[in-house]
Amino acid sequence: MVATCDYVPTSEARAREMLSLAGVKEGEVVYDLGCGTGEILIVAAEEFGARCFGIEVNSRLVAWAREEVERRGLEDRVRILHGNIFDPRFWLHLGGDPDIAVANADVVTCYLTLWVQEELRPLIERELAQGARVVSREFRLASWKPVKVKRGIYLFEKGRSF
Ligand SMILES: C[S@@+](CC[C@H](N)C(=O)[O-])C[C@H]1O[C@@H](n2cnc3c(N)ncnc32)[C@H](O)[C@@H]1O
Repeated sequence: MVATCDYVPTSEARAREMLSLAGVKEGEVVYDLGCGTGEILIVAAEEFGARCFGIEVNSRLVAWAREEVERRGLEDRVRILHGNIFDPRFWLHLGGDPDIAVANADVVTCYLTLWVQEELRPLIERELAQGARVVSREFRLASWKPVKVKRGIYLFEKGRSF
């Protein structure tokens, strides 16, 4: 069974807080795991100059996100991938596109239930590069030590937090 959870969007203001806490810099690679309609990534691309990838399992949300990305002219900076965040082809350069691998991320954003995050934990711990940041809304993994916490947003860093 695929670990999943419902769609609840992050507002632009909240996305800005997450990306600011993570200190996203121009040109950095941001992945949103379970990106919904792409709200976080649109802010990351437009306001922080990031190169963004979102993975989303729900095809209707994918279509909506792609439409919004196109409407804003962000196709060169935001890619929305349809599928399950646990699929290894999104993590390990297995999909034939060298650009697509969560292992490339400077920053991973997620707003997922604790259950889904807990399932993801081994993949994140194994695949992210040293120093990569994970910024999570609302739910925090008990075994990771946050490097920053602000208004329900938790920032973690590989090498320091886990
Ligand atoms: C709480 S919403 C957050 C959406 C977006 N990240 C935001 O903050 O606006 C969680 C999203 O994760 C997606 N999701 C849950 N489990 C998933 C899985 N296993 N693979 C891909 N997407 C998943 C859901 O469909 C939903 O859109």
